[in-house]
Amino acid sequence: MHKNKILQELVKKKVKSKIISIEKFTEVCLYGKFGYYNNSNVIGKKGDFITSPEISQLFGDIIGLFILYHWKIKLKKKFNFYELGPGKGTLLIDLLNITKKFNDFQKSINIYLVEKNIKLIEDQKSNILSFNSKPKKISWLKNFSKKNQYPSIIFANEFFDCFPVRQFFKKNQIWYEKMIEIKYNESLIKFKDIIINDKKTLKQLNQYKNSEILEISNSRDKYFDKICKHISKLGGMIIVIDYGYRSRPGYFTLQSVYNNKRSNVLDNIGKQDITSLVDFNKLIDLGKKNNLKIEHFSSQREFLLNNGIKERENKILKVANNKQRIMVQKGVKRIIDKKDMGNLFKVLVLSKWN
Ligand SMILES: C[S@@+](CC[C@H](N)C(=O)[O-])C[C@H]1O[C@@H](n2cnc3c(N)ncnc32)[C@H](O)[C@@H]1O
Repeated sequence: MHKNKILQELVKKKVKSKIISIEKFTEVCLYGKFGYYNNSNVIGKKGDFITSPEISQLFGDIIGLFILYHWKIKLKKKFNFYELGPGKGTLLIDLLNITKKFNDFQKSINIYLVEKNIKLIEDQKSNILSFNSKPKKISWLKNFSKKNQYPSIIFANEFFDCFPVRQFFKKNQIWYEKMIEIKYNESLIKFKDIIINDKKTLKQLNQYKNSEILEISNSRDKYFDKICKHISKLGGMIIVIDYGYRSRPGYFTLQSVYNNKRSNVLDNIGKQDITSLVDFNKLIDLGKKNNLKIEHFSSQREFLLNNGIKERENKILKVANNKQRIMVQKGVKRIIDKKDMGNLFKVLVLSKWN
């Protein structure tokens, strides 16, 4: 039933079959009327994935202290804090909590949460309200947009991996695109490789020298370019944390997760998360093109260790009971784990201080 509704949205007109790009397919499966981000319980133990702020409060503590430090030395005035895809609002709560003694910082912050998922907006509102019955003024936006002339600090954790990608590969000097064929009447859906003839696409692909397998997200690049332009004009900083790479991996990274387990991208349509690794080289290029300074690029592990997560952990452990100690240590270990999140996740910080 659910699958048919999505297929209907994909095919629209009354045709027996249709071939669409993976980008279009993902767009509708994630953001369409019946899509994943409009319906599901996506984050947390019962959802499909659990993120760093949900695993350890120290993640939000370190991000909060990093932002506070840069605000103190570079801004010291009113600013906007935009969080892109804030999930359950946990990072914001931890950030406000760790900076609560700094009245001048707290008075200077305008908060904008950019979120598409209606259910998550409700969660964010009730979680923030239960943390503080008199919360700071927070505005919700469906899309990133300029609200005033103040500088901004823009934060995004596991946001850019949600953007749809197109997949290309080269065989015997010929470029193909991996597409999806839908046979509506048979409710059948399968991958289909198509030779690319379009000159504009070929020109774009041929810019990537020595690459025979490519994933390109035009919508991600456009979104990132927009926030770079915003910072370039009004000043501030962008912090992006995501699964990703600088050197292209040489294989397709599109993946789907259903009930906390890897699944087939074409199964459970509209009910599962679909992501791909973020090409940080592309984000860095866009930052440079917009005259932003690359303040930092490293693994999540390196970033958190360099910014004092161990020192913060030791401080908390001194006043923690046994149960809390185990929880804190387990959480920190997981988000800095060399073999897992610590290395797979990358942190990019771009800035322009006007
Ligand atoms: C994987 S979750 C990460 C949540 C949170 N940042 C965290 O670390 O717990 C992705 C978040 O981005 C939101 N999201 C995904 N694509 C979006 C878009 N294009 N615009 C606004 N929000 C989006 C989702 O609804 C969700 O809140």
